[in-house]
Amino acid sequence: MNIILIGFMGSGKTTIAKRLAKKLICNYLDMDDLILKKSKRSNINQIFALDGELKFRELEISVAKKLSKTDNLIISTGGGVVMNRIIIDYLKSSGMIVFLESSFENIKKRLKFDDSRPLFKNPKIAQELFELRQPLYQQYSDLTIKTDQKSLREITNIIIEEKIKHEN
Ligand code: S3P
Repeated sequence: MNIILIGFMGSGKTTIAKRLAKKLICNYLDMDDLILKKSKRSNINQIFALDGELKFRELEISVAKKLSKTDNLIISTGGGVVMNRIIIDYLKSSGMIVFLESSFENIKKRLKFDDSRPLFKNPKIAQELFELRQPLYQQYSDLTIKTDQKSLREITNIIIEEKIKHEN
């Protein structure tokens, strides 16, 4: 069973995924890294600027399809996976989906000096996207964790406990 982390940009998916992989002694994969490899571009901004968002989403679908055949991985996803039902279906078929729910205020603070995200250039537009996606993250997840008041350790432990329940 894979553990798949979903949530908005800057919600801590990569950090938690790496920590979980270390604790559970299993491999960690980041969907954006796999998309980047497939794209032959040097960063995500370039894919959006030169190939367009649609191309990015196509690559995202093909990566999700490949991942649906894997097992025992910790997967951190891009914040937009919930915009395509087919991606979520592929991911769900391989494991447990965990939504890391963070407030927009915290996300904004975290991404203040980060310009690697093409869809977070304008905080107002990003906030609209955030509000649009919240119900989708809720709908597709097996577990939701409100992360604002929790330490990395607490979040990791909650996921591990849920994994054990899920497997039994
Ligand atoms: C996106 C989130 C990004 C990346 C791409 C699109 C989105 O991943 O996949 O820029 O649509 O929310 P992170 O959530 O890791 O920032």
